[in-house]
Amino acid sequence: MAGKIPQHFIDEVLSRTDIVDVIDARVTLKKRGNSHVACCPFHNEKSPSFNVSQQKQFYHCFGCGKSGSAITFLMDYENMHFVDAIETLAENLGLEVPREGGSTARPVNESKPLYELLEAVSAFYQQRLKEHPEAIAYLKKRGLSGETAQRFGIGYAPDGWDALNKQFPGREQDLLKTGMLKTSDKAGASQDRAYQRFRDRIMFPIRDRRGRVIAFGGRIMNQGEPKYLNSPETPLFHKGSELYGLFEARKSAQDNASVIVVEGYMDVVALAQHGIHNTVATLGTAANQQHSDILFKIVPNIVFCFDGDAAGRKAAWRALVATLPALQDGRDAHFLFLPDGEDPDTIVSESGAAGFNDRLAQRVPIIDYLYEHLAEGIDITSIGGKAQLADKAKPLVETIQPGVYKELAFRRLEALIGIALTGSRPTRRPTPTNTPAPRRQVDEGLTQMSRAVLIVLQFPRVVAALNGETNPVHDSIRGAEVLNGLITSLQAEPTLSTAIILERQRSRPEYKYLSQLAVRPLYPDGRELDDDSALSEFTHAIEQLRKRSGRTHTAQLDQSKRRGLLSRRRGN
Ligand code: UTP
Ligand code: MN
Repeated sequence: MAGKIPQHFIDEVLSRTDIVDVIDARVTLKKRGNSHVACCPFHNEKSPSFNVSQQKQFYHCFGCGKSGSAITFLMDYENMHFVDAIETLAENLGLEVPREGGSTARPVNESKPLYELLEAVSAFYQQRLKEHPEAIAYLKKRGLSGETAQRFGIGYAPDGWDALNKQFPGREQDLLKTGMLKTSDKAGASQDRAYQRFRDRIMFPIRDRRGRVIAFGGRIMNQGEPKYLNSPETPLFHKGSELYGLFEARKSAQDNASVIVVEGYMDVVALAQHGIHNTVATLGTAANQQHSDILFKIVPNIVFCFDGDAAGRKAAWRALVATLPALQDGRDAHFLFLPDGEDPDTIVSESGAAGFNDRLAQRVPIIDYLYEHLAEGIDITSIGGKAQLADKAKPLVETIQPGVYKELAFRRLEALIGIALTGSRPTRRPTPTNTPAPRRQVDEGLTQMSRAVLIVLQFPRVVAALNGETNPVHDSIRGAEVLNGLITSLQAEPTLSTAIILERQRSRPEYKYLSQLAVRPLYPDGRELDDDSALSEFTHAIEQLRKRSGRTHTAQLDQSKRRGLLSRRRGN
């Protein structure tokens, strides 16, 4: 008999799945503010109260109260059992479900033929390149040698509708599954024939970390739209968790202890042509937390390289926010902004590796970029401006892992605003401002413990405010075990989503109650918490719980800790 599915696998499935994709494939979602909305699929309604949070990886209907993770959604919407839901999500990711005790649910790896097929398609495209002088001429014009083209497996997809169908007879279903063929979705078109997605394009195979071809990007050779066409999301390919060139860059990145993240396929390839091999590109998406996590597992330093235009700056800021939580002692990140209209490809093609390295020397440390960006439009010579900067910066700096790096980031902020922020420093002035900030009326139906748990579930990052302190609440208080447990797991893995935290509790008696807290508003007027208010409400709740435990002998210690947290929060 098959054993239990190990928790770590469920975690992995959830961290690699995007709940927005899962739900959107079944119920069309619209983006609204920070979340995606739809009319609830679980009850009848005219205006949308069904919300999906990408950050929390969690959905919630304000109308009927249904809520949960991608797993819960499949269970409710598709009437699946828990195991079926996991298997469905795992299959989308091309993962095989392991079982405790070693026996697997399905011994055959269903993805294997798909990988083999894409490898063969890639070989087919490379072969076609050799027969198409105009494609070779294009690559030459862009400065690529045959050796570089080969290193990246660059090929050419022939024109016409059915070259792949003919080349791989009987594999139409698999070609559709991998996104190489598509069917016309025009209404009324009966007997749709599957045809080639990529026609008359230069083909860049996208490989996973193990070097397996999982998707393609195809560039048009002349003017035309779209310039690049990419494989859709498939069981093998999730663009948000892949980086172009990572397989090829890995060794050089490790040798250099650093990796450069650029925006385009051609940037990676052109840099490699000039001997700069430690580069990867995001696949038409902004760099996200998964990308940073993947790269920091390989190298201690990441350099993000962006166009200097508005879109590049926007993408850079998203990369910064996604990278801060992965920062810790021993790791660092920098940002390089290129002049408008230039990219690494143009720079290296015009001025060689030396020209690019000159630019690279001008990269900005992530913390400098953080404060520079936040200070834009603020007069930081004024008191109000300083306070405003501190207020905007603190919640972000709080997301860095506790340690020297974080401490130094705070000190830089202090230097900018000319005042000490943390309680542990001798320079701190004891002032009346150590009293808590005015807080809003909270839901009296919730105990202090429930409030603390609610905030941790909805805003897992607040745990950083404890600066690594474990078991802050005495076990004599009801629920302390649950709260301290959540805190401990988040201290070990600060980037867990609400969905993963809750799924880990599924078999526990508290699961139901925790699920309710995960969506319950803290304020009775239903107003939503934001990062800032979550942090202050959390420190307040922890304070109250500490008082309750009657640990008078630790009062002194608690006092200084509290000052530290509150004063840091409030920017006095
Ligand atoms: P760029 O347009 O900056 O690409 O888009 P590039 O590499 O400099 O292109 P060349 O030099 O003109 O060949 C950056 C990345 O954005 C995605 C691709 O991943 C591309 O590499 N992109 C861009 C698309 O997916 N589709 C597009 O139509 C354009
Ligand atoms: Mn370019």
